[in-house]
Amino acid sequence: MSTFQAPKGTYDLTPPRSATFLAVREAISAPLRDSGYGYIETPGFENVELFARGVGESTDIVTKEMYTLTTKGGDQLALRPEGTASVLRAALEANLHKAGNLPVKLWYSGSYYRYERPQAGRYRHFSQVGAEAIGTEDPALDAELIILADQAYRSLGLRRFRILLNSLGDKECRPVYREALQTFLRDLDLDEETRRRIEINPLRVLDDKRADVQKQLTDAPKLRDYLCDACKAYHEEVRALLTAAGVAFEDDEKLVRGLDYYTRTTFEFVHDGLGSQSAVGGGGRYDGLSEMIGGPELPSVGWALGVDRTVLALEAESVELDLPATTSVYAVPLGEEARRVLFGVVTELRRAGIAADFAFGGRGLKGAMKSANRSGARYTLVAGGRDLAEGVVQLKDMESGEQSAVPLAEAAAELAKRLG
Ligand code: HAM
Repeated sequence: MSTFQAPKGTYDLTPPRSATFLAVREAISAPLRDSGYGYIETPGFENVELFARGVGESTDIVTKEMYTLTTKGGDQLALRPEGTASVLRAALEANLHKAGNLPVKLWYSGSYYRYERPQAGRYRHFSQVGAEAIGTEDPALDAELIILADQAYRSLGLRRFRILLNSLGDKECRPVYREALQTFLRDLDLDEETRRRIEINPLRVLDDKRADVQKQLTDAPKLRDYLCDACKAYHEEVRALLTAAGVAFEDDEKLVRGLDYYTRTTFEFVHDGLGSQSAVGGGGRYDGLSEMIGGPELPSVGWALGVDRTVLALEAESVELDLPATTSVYAVPLGEEARRVLFGVVTELRRAGIAADFAFGGRGLKGAMKSANRSGARYTLVAGGRDLAEGVVQLKDMESGEQSAVPLAEAAAELAKRLG
């Protein structure tokens, strides 16, 4: 029988690379945790209707990429393709917005699923860390989120990323623009599917990658010229706050995100070392989403950063994260009695909060010392029958190579002292 492999478009995270993923999740969430964002976790699947209404019936995510299933009980569910709709649903369900403390600031980390054509940086199962600030319209909140993402990437050592910024207008001005754009697009020479898109989501047509389409779009009406005064002022304030914070961004009026819920501020973080899947993160304001899923008016803003692509970006920039060895002490027993005794010492060390590991399987000294080296442990404890007869263990400093006999009863305390 042939062995199984991970499903198409997925991959496993295994040591040592998996440690980088953990560190990236940690680095992205740290600035959020320090800025008043509370942790939220929602199910990996939701009622399919939530995404259809929230993310939008005109998006590829909903029409082509959702993993949907019917349960034995007849419920229509979908594996979550993104986190925003779920987080807002959960916040509404728990009445977090009624606790009198707006904005409700939440962060999350988890797996997301999209049935996309797999390629480098694009997977069917991927991982995001995200943040949502619910219930407040304030340009400082938009700026805060962009600044925190910038801070997270910088803390990881990334440099070759850029921030693209745009405003998509609001429910006053966007419909006017949409109509003007539709009128313009209807006169162009476009294929059937693109013509359909003009009627459902004309802004997405601007995002078409094909050169013959782009050529026809040069004179398309610009959203910038249609923004109402309130949207213009809001956007200028976001820009000013970012500039004051020293966060560089590029205005990109072609930035149309692949989800329908956005209003006003939208942004994307792109990395120049990643080829075509260059977006390492993205987000924006979604003032109408709550009402779209049956809630009250709750203007909100958020982002999600892709963990997989952030790791690829680190690799593209040859950034080595400074990941300290997880094991401080490695115990190598020689013989049955030593195995029992040292296993006891390891347990004692662990209970005292010292990271310790053990040479399992009764291997010889040479092989066990190789494992001790590989573990990155600062100290090794070695003991054989003769040591035990004398009531000592050999304590080896793996950095200096120095070795000394320490009374068995004092080994744990001595290590605790040396490790500070
Ligand atoms: P998104 O732009 O669809 O936004 O996804 C955010 C990030 O997730 C992307 O920039 C990318 O790094 C990563 N990502 C998306 N799809 C894949 C894939 N197939 N393979 C690998 N990585 C991927 C959202 O999901 C919104 N919920 C963000 C948001 C939060 N907006 C407001 N609040």
